[in-house]
Formats: sequence, C-alpha cells, structure tokens
Amino acid sequence: MIKDERWEKVYSFDDSPYLMEILTELRNKETDSIAFRKGLVKLGRFMGYEIIKTMDIEKIKIETPLEETEGIIVKDRRNIVIVTVLRAAVPLMEGLVKVFEHARIGIVSASRGKAPKFEIEMNYIKIPQITPEDTVIIADPMIATGSTLVKVIEEVKKYGTPKRLIVLGVLAAPEGIERIKEEFPEAEIFVTKIDRELNSKGYILPGLGDAGDRAFGAP
Ligand code: URA
Repeated sequence: MIKDERWEKVYSFDDSPYLMEILTELRNKETDSIAFRKGLVKLGRFMGYEIIKTMDIEKIKIETPLEETEGIIVKDRRNIVIVTVLRAAVPLMEGLVKVFEHARIGIVSASRGKAPKFEIEMNYIKIPQITPEDTVIIADPMIATGSTLVKVIEEVKKYGTPKRLIVLGVLAAPEGIERIKEEFPEAEIFVTKIDRELNSKGYILPGLGDAGDRAFGAP
C-alpha cells in the first residue's frame, strides 16, 4: 500500500504485483465479462484485506484445547457498512463481503449524464443507519470526475457520522480525487491505481473502459 503524496489519506496498491496483475487483466480489452467480473471480485476481496491492515486490533486471551494463549480481534471488521454504487460495484461488493461478512449493505443507484455537465441522477437509495463505531466503505470501481461519489457521500452522511469513511475504487483520475477531497477532506480513498487523467467524455485514461458495460456485457 502506497500513500500518495499529493493528498492526505489517499492510498494505491502499485506495490502489489498480485493486484497489478488483476488490474492488467481488467484493462485488457480482450478480457471477457466473466473474467472481468471475477477480477473485480478478487480486487474487492484483496483490497478488503488491505483495509483490515489499517484497523485497530485488540489483544484477547483465549484457551486452545491445551492451554491459554493470546490472540487478537479486529473489532472494526464487525462494524462495517458497505455502500454499493450500482452497477459496476456489485462484483466488488461480492469480494468485500468475503472479508467483511458482518457488513450491513447499502445500495445506491446513480447515473452520470453526458459531457460537458455530467449531471448525476440518483434514483434508488437504501442505506442502513450508521453509528459512530461504523466504518463505511463506499464501493465504486471508477473514480472519474468524482461527482457521483460526492453525491453518494452527501446521501450517506444523512444516515449518521461514521468512525471512518472509506471510498474504495479500482481506478481513479486525479481530478476525481481532488473533487472528493475538496468536499470531504476526511474521506480515505483506496484504489488499486491512480491513472493519468480524464478524457473529454469523462473516461479515465489509460483506464479500462466502461466498467459496468464490461462487467455485465450490456451497454
Ligand atoms: N466510469 C467508467 O466505467 N469508466 C471510466 O473510465 C469512467 C467512469
């Protein structure tokens, strides 16, 4: 996990050959929907493990069948709310719940209009109540302009103030990170990689194309 020097609390995984190999497969235009979805599930799972490394641990005493010993518990792992931004985050969430099996799940449907305005329409919002012990993980594979995520975070905050607010993506454009950080400096952003830029249509470059279309085979 690498902390990006340009912003506070923004991390990428350029140092993980395994995650970079999965990303390479996702980027490749020859990769079909089945492999693409599987790649997103794997990323969700392994990025979940990385997030756990940033959580507090508590030492506990337990007894094996033979004697007493010390163990640990990652308490925050049990207080997770995953907010899934439809569509492309669905496979990412599948991976995340393998690691955060106690998670309560929120679903948000947000679609982005066309350039130059990229206006965001939110037509389905179901988010559980959030407590000060919770870590909220908002899963959205592509952090492009950041506008969708700003809207989603505004919605999430109506349900309570969490201990940590994490945005988890596959790729981000610097423009999108900048936008989120401007509005919500407290947000932590975890992405496999931060790409170069956005094109005029709001796609991340070099990117991987439209993540929803590629995962579900339906434009
Ligand atoms: N959404 C995508 O699916 N891909 C991009 O490059 C940008 C937004």
